[in-house]
Amino acid sequence: MKKVHLETDRLILREWIDEDRKPFAQMNADPMVMEYMPRRLDEGASDKLVDRFSQHFKKHGYGLYVAESKDTKEFMGFVGLSNVELEVPFAPAVEIAWRLSYEFWGQGYASEAAKSVLKHGLGKLKIPEIVAFTVYDNTRSIAVIEKLGLERDPKGDFDYPRLPKGHPLAKHVLFRIAA
Ligand SMILES: CC(C)(COP(=O)(O)OP(=O)(O)OC[C@H]1O[C@@H](n2cnc3c(N)ncnc32)[C@H](O)[C@@H]1OP(=O)(O)O)[C@@H](O)C(=O)NCCC(=O)NCCS
Repeated sequence: MKKVHLETDRLILREWIDEDRKPFAQMNADPMVMEYMPRRLDEGASDKLVDRFSQHFKKHGYGLYVAESKDTKEFMGFVGLSNVELEVPFAPAVEIAWRLSYEFWGQGYASEAAKSVLKHGLGKLKIPEIVAFTVYDNTRSIAVIEKLGLERDPKGDFDYPRLPKGHPLAKHVLFRIAA
């Protein structure tokens, strides 16, 4: 059963099903998509992530939703909310996050989905504040964050804890929005 949480003009945002595992693994192996991640994921690691995302839904009732095309029913990637489990000064917090397959970039899909997710999170789910963070030069992602109206919190910028000091992807910028 695909549990649908949200619907936008072009997308359905829903929970994960086994059929998502293959296109998700393909996306996680794509060097373009994973440019700002420390590593690409093999099938096993990608599957473990699906398991983690599904557990998050069970525990919290929300999570990183699969973005599905209303038109073609294709898996496009994920956009959603996730509890920050990193050792960072701004945790505990709920973050908004996204990753789309390359073929779907540049058509406003991430912004469309994220707008709906943000409204849902701050509204219906009554989350008092939502954060977003990314590698400092991930301009595409930062464009989406800024379009959503989150504000940069320069004091919150941080080095990603799970990366060695000085790693080229370590430096992260933090954004926040309150209900
Ligand atoms: C970030 C990502 C989700 C964006 O998806 P998308 O559907 O292309 O995003 P949208 O089309 O809604 O918006 C992208 C915005 O970035 C802008 N943009 C695109 N490429 C850009 C670039 N190289 N530099 C600056 N801005 C750029 C677009 O102009 C657009 O803004 P606009 O609508 O005001 O013109 C997608 O690129 C992705 O999955 N990246 C890999 C995963 C990732 O980095 N996730 C974030 C990790 S924290």
